[in-house]
Amino acid sequence: MQIDARLQEGIDAHRNGNLAVAQDAYLEVLSADPNHADGLHFLGLLHFDAGHPENAVALIRKSLEQNARNAAAFNNLGNILKLSGSSSEALEAYARAVELEPRHKEAWSNINVLLRAATHNDDLLPILAEIVRLDPENPDAWHNYGLSLVLAGRKEEAADAVERCLEFGLDIWSDPVWHARVLCALGRQNRALEFLEQIVEADPHNEIARYQLAAVRGDDLDHAPESYVKTHFDKFAATFDDVLSGLGYRAPELVAEEAVTLAKSASIPFQDVVDLGCGTGLCGPLIRDHCVKLTGIDLSQGMLQKAAALKVYDFLVEGELVAFLQSDLPTRFDLAVCVDTLCYLGDLQPFMVALEKALKPGGILIASVEHLANTSWPEYRVDSTGRYAHTPAYLRRCAQAASLTLEKEKEVVLRHELGEEVHGLIFHVRKLSLNET
Ligand SMILES: C[S@@+](CC[C@H](N)C(=O)[O-])C[C@H]1O[C@@H](n2cnc3c(N)ncnc32)[C@H](O)[C@@H]1O
Repeated sequence: MQIDARLQEGIDAHRNGNLAVAQDAYLEVLSADPNHADGLHFLGLLHFDAGHPENAVALIRKSLEQNARNAAAFNNLGNILKLSGSSSEALEAYARAVELEPRHKEAWSNINVLLRAATHNDDLLPILAEIVRLDPENPDAWHNYGLSLVLAGRKEEAADAVERCLEFGLDIWSDPVWHARVLCALGRQNRALEFLEQIVEADPHNEIARYQLAAVRGDDLDHAPESYVKTHFDKFAATFDDVLSGLGYRAPELVAEEAVTLAKSASIPFQDVVDLGCGTGLCGPLIRDHCVKLTGIDLSQGMLQKAAALKVYDFLVEGELVAFLQSDLPTRFDLAVCVDTLCYLGDLQPFMVALEKALKPGGILIASVEHLANTSWPEYRVDSTGRYAHTPAYLRRCAQAASLTLEKEKEVVLRHELGEEVHGLIFHVRKLSLNET
């Protein structure tokens, strides 16, 4: 038997989904040479495809004992470890892949996903420092090195690394606005402005960069433009759930817990419920059992498609939420939930007025906002990420002005970003019931 030819037959069958044929070929290779590094690697991948990740990890590790210079095997090992929930071991495997092959695009992108979700990365930082030293023209290495420095709190060096990334030109980055945001967060507003102006000049229709520029410039905006929200979330929809779970995103659970507690204490489900800015539908499944009819509304078609795939919403509406609440609705709502969406509305007065119109008497909103703390003025503010934060006093004032009552507010951590906690408020706003009016 020609081992290489038999291995190739296995790989071809594997690619075509013929796992049994592939397995026979790999096993034959390994019976001829039990330490065949590629045979072990591909049999490992096959075990993963067949739903046995632990066997896969063991086989790929054994393959790497035979050939410790196989960057692709380290990258595959990282993927399996990541999917099995072992993020720090996965990061080690990806780091080994880029050490061996500093231009391994896929491994860099995997490192990036894990780093964005990480709160520290002490082991990786020296490895990345060495890679940028040895390969100073490597944009992916600089990008991840910069992010690692941010996580390590080494702000000046981090900002220098992010600026270095932008020297490679704007075109090579799928999201150069991210670099501008990070520069802002690191205190280099002027450089961020320059970069954003360059992006907008090169692509005047780039809604994300235009909004970001307005936010960093401090333009007087009272909400994020619809065109921005749609473009941003249509682009983000495919990876939203994964990215947010990596950031420890808890807002949907926190809001749902409150709704479920209320439903249980009333011993009956909410009749008509709306999820305002439902996105991919993270909140829907958590409250579904406590709703008779559940409607979701969102501006982004991409996000709504994800929500539709869950099959938990009775109705999904593509539209702007304030306009929806103001419209001539077929029914009013007993419960509205609004998770991590009011951060795209600065001025909440029109929202509260529309909400009052759309709630039934006694109806309630449970929502989250980002917390603007330790200030009485301004009452809301947009930050360099393009998201608004609000003060609790402002929520109360807007609710009162719309004849609603702010009943409860609770300080929470909504998620992590660039290694820092994002602080939020979960609050309840109620419309008076008929016997209270
Ligand atoms: C950060 S996501 C949160 C999605 C979902 N609530 C969750 O917690 O996973 C914000 C969502 O609000 C939507 N959105 C923002 N502003 C909106 C508006 N004015 N009207 C309707 N949807 C809006 C966006 O399209 C996006 O899907």
